[in-house]
Amino acid sequence: MNILVTGGTGFIGAELARTLVSRGENVVLFDIYPNYARIGDIKDKVKVVQGNLAYWAEVFNAVKNYNIEGIYHTGSMLSATSEASPWASFQTNVAGTMHILEAARLFGVGKVVFTSTLATYGLACPAVVTDETIQRPITMYGCGKLYCEVLGMYYRNRFDMDFRTVRYPAVIGPGINTPGIAQWNAWMIEYPALGKPFECYVTEDTKVPVLYFKDAVRAVDMIFQAPKEQIKMVNYNVGGVTPSRTAKELEQAVKSHIPDAQISYKPDPKTMEVFRSMNVDVFDDSKARQEWGWQPLYSDFDKVVSDTIKEIKMHPERYGLA
Ligand SMILES: NC(=O)c1ccc[n+]([C@@H]2O[C@H](COP(=O)([O-])OP(=O)(O)OC[C@H]3O[C@@H](n4cnc5c(N)ncnc54)[C@H](O)[C@@H]3O)[C@@H](O)[C@H]2O)c1
Repeated sequence: MNILVTGGTGFIGAELARTLVSRGENVVLFDIYPNYARIGDIKDKVKVVQGNLAYWAEVFNAVKNYNIEGIYHTGSMLSATSEASPWASFQTNVAGTMHILEAARLFGVGKVVFTSTLATYGLACPAVVTDETIQRPITMYGCGKLYCEVLGMYYRNRFDMDFRTVRYPAVIGPGINTPGIAQWNAWMIEYPALGKPFECYVTEDTKVPVLYFKDAVRAVDMIFQAPKEQIKMVNYNVGGVTPSRTAKELEQAVKSHIPDAQISYKPDPKTMEVFRSMNVDVFDDSKARQEWGWQPLYSDFDKVVSDTIKEIKMHPERYGLA
């Protein structure tokens, strides 16, 4: 199958590309700033198209030139960069998704899978967040993603397009360099694995739902492959480590693998302000479990920590950590 992965050399896109290549798909990676180090092992097995989601013609060319039959739309500006420029975020995330949907409609692409976020719920959300919890985002990133979730529903209803979404919590793994407020989870593992001290910028009792990047890839691929009749909710939460664990609990898991890990705490008041009004214990993914069999493989910190350490040792160049 000819598959387009937007954001295809990003943190999640590159790992997804690896999965698709290993299954024998014809993979085209569309990215504004292709990161060739991340795809070093598969670079001869994929096509890379440098392009901007914000330019409809660049999206249309990629879809038409490669006879694309399915799209995994992971290309996006994330939360911090979207706050830095809401205008650029609108062009990339909102107009960019419209361009993907239009290209899919006009060139007869069978299926579009979209990657959304817990940020669509906004702050002051309840301890248990389900697919039916009201979504009232407060960030440009969350607003844009929510619009695209419902835009995809519109395309389903109006044009019978097979659109589906996985909604991720904070995704963690090795080599994250995109700024964000929940990155302490990834860096508290990565820094000690590299022999570096880590100063955590939240309090010991701060928690946020997290999903390991390999599970994030499995989720988006599972929903892509799920039979159409099983997709009823359309936009689904996918959880990983549930219930959410505190920074201190992560520290303990890290120290069980790296006993001399140096971890200290210097909470950043601005970040703490965000977490004081956002205390999600359960990112409820029961609809994904019921409808297409979702289940994370990395459901506790111990598995996440040990696999992250293994990945950093085995593929430091892939994660920009050589
Ligand atoms: N990482 C997380 O914690 C997280 C959480 C929730 C949802 N998501 C979603 O998952 C998807 C993948 O995120 P990621 O963690 O891999 O982020 P990432 O920043 O590593 O990857 C995004 C990719 O999109 C590309 N991109 C950005 N602007 C573009 C543009 N205008 N045109 C073409 N490409 C562009 C970037 O170059 C990058 O390679 C995104 O849709 C994101 O919103 C991520």
